[in-house]
Amino acid sequence: MDATSQRFLMCRPTYFAVDYAINPWMDPTAPVDTALAIRQWEQLRRTYLDLGHTVELIDPVAGLPDMVFAANGGTVIGDRAMAVQFRDPQRADEAPAYRAWFEAAGFEVYDPKHVNEGEGDVLLVGDHLLAGTGFRTAHASHAQLQEVFGHPVVTLQLVDPRFYHLDTALTVLDERTVAYLPEAFSPGSRAVLRRLFPDAVHATMADAEVLGLNAVGDGRHVVLPAQATGLAAKLRDRGYQTIGVDLSELRKAGGGPKCCTLRLRQGKASQ
Ligand code: ARG
Repeated sequence: MDATSQRFLMCRPTYFAVDYAINPWMDPTAPVDTALAIRQWEQLRRTYLDLGHTVELIDPVAGLPDMVFAANGGTVIGDRAMAVQFRDPQRADEAPAYRAWFEAAGFEVYDPKHVNEGEGDVLLVGDHLLAGTGFRTAHASHAQLQEVFGHPVVTLQLVDPRFYHLDTALTVLDERTVAYLPEAFSPGSRAVLRRLFPDAVHATMADAEVLGLNAVGDGRHVVLPAQATGLAAKLRDRGYQTIGVDLSELRKAGGGPKCCTLRLRQGKASQ
């Protein structure tokens, strides 16, 4: 399998904390070690650089503890970026910060008309955009995504609050294949996934509960939480090279490697 060189956007967790609870993983009374979170995040960034990927950085903003989760900053395909609108007021101010970054980087920016949490809920597989709804991104925004990007949008209904963003329940492995947790989707959406991806890797609840599906693939390597050992073994059986990273501190906010990583598909490196 060929690895495609990727360009990512990340945000250092300088101001990371769990000050509020907007998903079931977050417990504001539990201690968080911000210095450890930064070291773990640096390890993720180093992993991407070692794989030959490019990592762009956006400046973190004080008072926005979840800004480290760059996947929620937008949806980017080619030279177009769709900005985001968060469901929760605690994250609202991240949207203009990411929007400004896209503008400065030269993207053509589109503003969301409805709640849309970016690549947390919107994943490109080949020509299809898979779009999650049920907890965060509004169903109405899926139509706008299709208009902005001109890729067919496939709506997927998420049903388990622990897997509140699509990228906690499904991983894109390459242009044709995904891995996912069937139980995280409604019966109709499971049927859609079976139809589109008959060869998909099915993850177990044990893997999903350590956010194992919050992984980043480049077609050949898959960077995933080190704790997701069962999923890693299945992926290796399929010929992928797996690289485990420990993001235990960020998991206290409900995030893993993919949440920290926004794909910037632009120019020749685009997939
Ligand atoms: N605490 C953040 C939230 O609830 C975590 C976001 C994780 N991001 C993701 N792409 N799944 O919004």
